[in-house]
Amino acid sequence: MIAPSILSADFARLADEAAAVASADWLHVDVMDAHFVPNLTIGLPVVKSLRKATDLPLDCHLMIDDPDRWAIGYAEAGAYNVTVHVEAARDPVALAKDLRAAGAKAGLSLKPGTPLEPYVDVLKHYDTLLVMSVEPGFGGQSFMAEVLDKVRAARRLVDTGHLRLVVEIDGGINEDTIEQAARAGVDCFVAGSAVYDAADPGAALERLREQAARAR
Ligand code: DX5
Ligand code: ZN
Repeated sequence: MIAPSILSADFARLADEAAAVASADWLHVDVMDAHFVPNLTIGLPVVKSLRKATDLPLDCHLMIDDPDRWAIGYAEAGAYNVTVHVEAARDPVALAKDLRAAGAKAGLSLKPGTPLEPYVDVLKHYDTLLVMSVEPGFGGQSFMAEVLDKVRAARRLVDTGHLRLVVEIDGGINEDTIEQAARAGVDCFVAGSAVYDAADPGAALERLREQAARAR
């Protein structure tokens, strides 16, 4: 699956930018609060408007403090998947249950330096694992290949039936990096600049999809 990140899109034309990637699987929406990460992007009102402007499932990636308080609003606004950061969540198990009860899939994200092992039991309550392959906060950064060990470990846990979730990767995914990520076992690839900096975002996402399918 490919999830174009609108962080690299034109924020004044979000409906058009979503339409430009109509064949995407999910539309990745980066919510940043200038506290958990040193950048500020968009929040709940924009997600509510986007929900009406596109049929694509919204994959909301909350890079915010206190997700225990704020994440539920995104589920209620109709996000398909709501991902919170384990480094910010106080009670990630309760949070996952609340998100699911509100009708969304629950996602848990790990920063590049955060290990997987301590959270395997927590992840039993989640539908998505978002492995960050850059430090969260900005688009257009370089891919950190060292996180692929974490992807391989997650893939093994899924393939052996210990976890049941989508393995998603976010940061620095482009035509030079997507194949190694696919071989490590990623199911869903977030791509911001590789899609929206291209002359034809729809064609760029299809090229990435083919590359990943071939590598896997
Ligand atoms: C970064 C965001 C990413 C970002 C990826 O903190 O979470 O989703 O949009 O951008 P690229 O694909 O350009 O690295
Ligand atoms: Zn993201």
